[in-house]
Amino acid sequence: MNIRTITTVPFSDQKPGTSGLRKSVTAFQKPHYLENFVQSIFDSLENCQGETLVVGGDGRYYNRQATQIILKMAAANGFVRVKVGHRGILSTPAASCVIRKYKTLGGIILSASHNPGGPNGDFGIKYNISNGGPAPEKVTEAIYARSKVIDSYKIIEANDVNLDKLGETKIDNMVVEVIDSVQDYQDLMESLFDFDRIQQLLTGGKFKMCIDSMHAVTGPYAKGIFEQRLGGGVGCVQNGVPLEDFGGGHPDPNLVYAHDLVEIMFGEYAPDFGAASDGDGDRNMILGNKFFVTPSDSLAILAANARLVPGYAQGLSGIARSMPTSQAADRVAAKLGIDCYETPTGWKFFGNLMDADKVTLCGEESFGTGSNHIREKDGLWAVLFWLNILASRQQSVEEIVKEHWQIYGRNYYSRHDYEEVDSQRANTLVNNVQAAMPNLKGKKFGSYEVEYSDNFSYTDPVDGSVSTNQGIRIGFTDGSRIVFRLSGTGTQGATLRLYLESFTGDVAKQNVETQEALGDLVRIAEEIAQIRENTGMDKPTVIT
Ligand code: G6P
Ligand code: ZN
Repeated sequence: MNIRTITTVPFSDQKPGTSGLRKSVTAFQKPHYLENFVQSIFDSLENCQGETLVVGGDGRYYNRQATQIILKMAAANGFVRVKVGHRGILSTPAASCVIRKYKTLGGIILSASHNPGGPNGDFGIKYNISNGGPAPEKVTEAIYARSKVIDSYKIIEANDVNLDKLGETKIDNMVVEVIDSVQDYQDLMESLFDFDRIQQLLTGGKFKMCIDSMHAVTGPYAKGIFEQRLGGGVGCVQNGVPLEDFGGGHPDPNLVYAHDLVEIMFGEYAPDFGAASDGDGDRNMILGNKFFVTPSDSLAILAANARLVPGYAQGLSGIARSMPTSQAADRVAAKLGIDCYETPTGWKFFGNLMDADKVTLCGEESFGTGSNHIREKDGLWAVLFWLNILASRQQSVEEIVKEHWQIYGRNYYSRHDYEEVDSQRANTLVNNVQAAMPNLKGKKFGSYEVEYSDNFSYTDPVDGSVSTNQGIRIGFTDGSRIVFRLSGTGTQGATLRLYLESFTGDVAKQNVETQEALGDLVRIAEEIAQIRENTGMDKPTVIT
């Protein structure tokens, strides 16, 4: 045993955010920074002795170095086995799948999701528990508490493991198993979807698709599944080689950052179906030929069509969406006669609901959709779900969405982000809106009348835990909503998110351009929150 105990001092800024600890690469490269956090994770677990851990990341800069450090610390802390992805790579959904399949104690995922990578970009680390999902707040709070008092960490003195070679090696007494990053995940997908039918669609000569992996982690997964297994052929995946800096891009699948794909899908020779995924593979954007599907609509449409997919043919136990996600899914749930839960932003809030079998499908406006097959959102799963629906309905994406609106009505939806706002100014804005709330009820803004306003708080129906301060909701009598919330994932200053939603059941009014349809609500939000003045910005930095 070559265990070394290294003396350290705490860092005061290791509080995990919406999805783990995210900082610039340079912050993580500070001596002991990563080690302190990893030891805080291990210390907050009841017992690592004799346990198995999963480790993998999205391949961004510092992934390899961090993996080596974690392996040596896992060995020093008593783990007997680590399953690590080939070349240190595991998408977030694949890591969740492996944790569940092999019933490991948990896993460490190295990712800053969609934040840019490279030496000047971001890095991140999060812990997932034995159900495969992100650690719930009580665990992340314990990790944070530990990080504030930590005075030493344990690490083995050993050579680096060869992560390029599949198979088993040892660090001291611990087995390091370098696993194929794709296989377990692909097997799971094959158990849920009608691969034969999707293959017929992709090879029939009439249907064309394009997946943009944005030089991030889904490259090998998408190539293996869509190009090879499903017969989509070479070229249906673009930007499919994971790069440490994501090719200089911002691997966030939305209309702004996935511009390569958007150009193709809105161009002259647009394929029938397009999709993109983010840095760590848990987000997705779905596009039809010259047609964008909002993530909120996507969730509702998957739910409404779930019986067409073998893995969900028995029906859904319930649906959950994050609070700022549009209420389109609620309408489907009502029709299906199942519950729809409204949770705070963050996938971790879905875990208990899925474990207790209260919900099958979950989704967020932030381009996340998933189900109880794992405990993370899952980008390629959403793509396969859509392809399965397209294959069985034999209609275009646009036809399916428009038919959905005819049946359920349309929830117009958009999010306006104001990024890198000075934190103090952002807090002032939120405090001002909060202070204005008691006088809002009954107030009229043109034809809109405020029905309620509150700061969203959530009581977990399974364990009773309460999460307060999750964003300000202002609801109008016609079902429209404005939500103000500060992002919990940014690394610079504050990001103000303004979420806008209105509803129309009138088919004749369902084809208005989204920003136009929401124009009045934008003006009301400005009137209530004085966004321009408080942020010092004329317009949002990103509109999705
Ligand atoms: C991550 C989380 C999601 C969350 C999203 C936006 O992707 O996994 O659950 O919806 O970030 O979070 P934010 O706090 O930035 O709005
Ligand atoms: Zn992600």
